[in-house]
Amino acid sequence: MTQTKNDSVTLTDNRNGKSYTLPLLDGSTGPSVIDVRKLYSETGHFTFDPGYTSTGSCESKITYIDGDNGILLHRGYRIEDLASKCTFLEVAYLLLYGELPDAAQLEEFTKTITYHTMVHEQLSFMLRGFRRDAHPMAIMCGTTGALSAFYHDSLDILDPRQREISAHRLIAKIPTMAAMAYKYSVGQPFVYPRNELSYAGNFLQMMFGVPAENWKDNPVLTKAMDRIFILHADHEQNASTSTVRMAGSSGANPFACIAAGIASLWGPAHGGANEAVLKMLNEIGSKDRIPEFLARAKDKNDPFRLMGFGHRVYKNYDPRASVMRESCHEVLDALGKRNDPLLALAMELERIALEDPYFVEKKLFPNVDFYSGIILKAMGFPVEMFTVLFAVARTVGWIAQWKEMIEDPAMKIGRPRQLYTGATERAFVPLSGRG
Ligand code: SDX
Repeated sequence: MTQTKNDSVTLTDNRNGKSYTLPLLDGSTGPSVIDVRKLYSETGHFTFDPGYTSTGSCESKITYIDGDNGILLHRGYRIEDLASKCTFLEVAYLLLYGELPDAAQLEEFTKTITYHTMVHEQLSFMLRGFRRDAHPMAIMCGTTGALSAFYHDSLDILDPRQREISAHRLIAKIPTMAAMAYKYSVGQPFVYPRNELSYAGNFLQMMFGVPAENWKDNPVLTKAMDRIFILHADHEQNASTSTVRMAGSSGANPFACIAAGIASLWGPAHGGANEAVLKMLNEIGSKDRIPEFLARAKDKNDPFRLMGFGHRVYKNYDPRASVMRESCHEVLDALGKRNDPLLALAMELERIALEDPYFVEKKLFPNVDFYSGIILKAMGFPVEMFTVLFAVARTVGWIAQWKEMIEDPAMKIGRPRQLYTGATERAFVPLSGRG
């Protein structure tokens, strides 16, 4: 970041008439920031920003979002280009190392990830401790955190090589663990990774393959899976990424930090929205009930929100939703499900909502979760696995952001303050004197 021409803002405290000058810092693009790091020591005041609607928590070079214009860049490249011209592992390399890999780098990175896809056999015994009907996100929280019990040789976050090995292990093993969580829930045996398959193809094989027959890769579904992973890979300082950064700022090991990110992603306001969208579409059931649900979404007294709509940053169409909608048509056509009633209902809901003054005024557009569930259901994933797939993809973004933070010399432990409105000091009352 740079402070050009001594840019600054001046704050006047009308309680004491004092003025304070705060530096204005510029990034390479996007909004400038007011550097408030010395605000408390100079003014005795904190800033107050629950939900961090106006707060930059860190400096980063990984992802840039222009919410007003619906633009998403990873290391400067548009998501539309990456989703249509790259593989997920190319994007993973880009997020981790800052540049798109050349052929030799991609081959080496792909080989490294491929040869880390198996998990310790003991993990399969640990997984069997869950109930068969456990939500797969509960299993992912538990097993990802447990990885730190297996890899004592890569927990030293100050060792660059151990950081890199942990990153590779997480990117490689998360799909295997996700597939194991699914197989466990349906009572089928775990399917081991196959090194001759691509990252997405291997995941589909571990999910839907069975020992009773040889796996047949479906290139259309593999390409769709790979693209869905790319669309979910990273997204600036969202709730789960901020959770990973906060956990990592204390020096916690990367496996525990990613487990914290998975927990945060699970919420229906965040990564859990793709599961919530499908449940909402099934609840709406038919086009003639759309007005009823839109009315509920607009009713301040009704907690119902239109799932898959709205975004803290995008006040325009989420570019990922556009790519996802195209993929929807491709996959459903390829599966002979062009007339999927859910897709028709979703498109009608989108059409009506985008013409509704409430949604127009509040700039509520479909987000990445609105169409993803329809594709995933058509591909055969149960709705409980939707957020798990989001976590598989976002692990790359989480670990890239964690790595960037650990390697930032300015890194400090995250420790926000508060506006205290509770009881001021008062004399203690012994039990005999209460009531
Ligand atoms: C993801 O941050 C990221 O980058 C996340 C993500 C990523 O890749 O990591 O993009 C992934 O989480 C996408 C979002 C998935 N969630 C949903 O689809 C759930 C439904 N959406 C809402 O819960 C909401 O839009 C949020 C949580 C996504 C954003 O909430 P904000 O930024 O806190 O916005 P807000 O709640 O202040 O809403 C502003 C206004 C409010 O009305 P007023 O109080 O101003 O009158 O818009 C309304 C809200 O009531 N509103 C909605 C709505 N979303 C916002 N009203 C009806 N339906 C909705 N979906």
